[in-house]
Amino acid sequence: MVASFVPDNSYLIDVGCDHAFLDIYLYNNLKNIKILATDINENPLKIAEENINKYGLKGKIKLKLQDGIKNLDKEIDTIVIAGMGGILISDILSQKEYLENIKTIIVSPNNDFEIVRKTLSKIGFMIQKEALITENKITYLVIRAKRGKQKRINYFFGTLKANNLEVIYYYTKLLQTNTKILKKLPKKYVFKKWKLKNQNRRIKNFLKKID
Ligand SMILES: C[S@@+](CC[C@H](N)C(=O)[O-])C[C@H]1O[C@@H](n2cnc3c(N)ncnc32)[C@H](O)[C@@H]1O
Repeated sequence: MVASFVPDNSYLIDVGCDHAFLDIYLYNNLKNIKILATDINENPLKIAEENINKYGLKGKIKLKLQDGIKNLDKEIDTIVIAGMGGILISDILSQKEYLENIKTIIVSPNNDFEIVRKTLSKIGFMIQKEALITENKITYLVIRAKRGKQKRINYFFGTLKANNLEVIYYYTKLLQTNTKILKKLPKKYVFKKWKLKNQNRRIKNFLKKID
């Protein structure tokens, strides 16, 4: 799903590439693609190098040990960050001074979707496309944003529509989980309770649209 959001002819940085499977797939399947695969930790980068060599792509995908998006090559126009928490993704993207030449951002946050959407808007990007995909009962969100002013959206749901099976599945599950937590949560967690109830009300209204 992440790969399907990457445009042909991109020069991208994959932040936190880990095993580099995404980058290997992208190199083999997209047209005219240049890739810098990076990670903050040496171990994943070593595994990435082994995988890149195993798939016969030595020298085709560049590798670099680096934290976030600092000092990028001016030709890099696309950022991919997948499989990290939403707050970490937001912290990385908030380093606005490094975004000058970036046209497209593709992110797949593990959580805190709302924070990620707000950050994208704050750094001058608008959501172009979003999708949820469920595998082994875990639902993943993928967002593609391009430069521009974000039109009015509800940051909790983004541009997702309540007429899609994956979206219904995800929000129904979230509603059930929130309700379970609410039942167990001691009274003193007033703010947390308010937040969960508020979320549930919004989810119910959202799902009502498909009845
Ligand atoms: C769970 S893996 C995700 C791997 C891959 N992107 C995916 O979606 O399958 C997260 C990776 O991000 C790396 N990471 C965490 N913080 C980072 C940062 N600030 N800059 C670069 N990489 C980071 C970790 O070392 C780890 O390899």
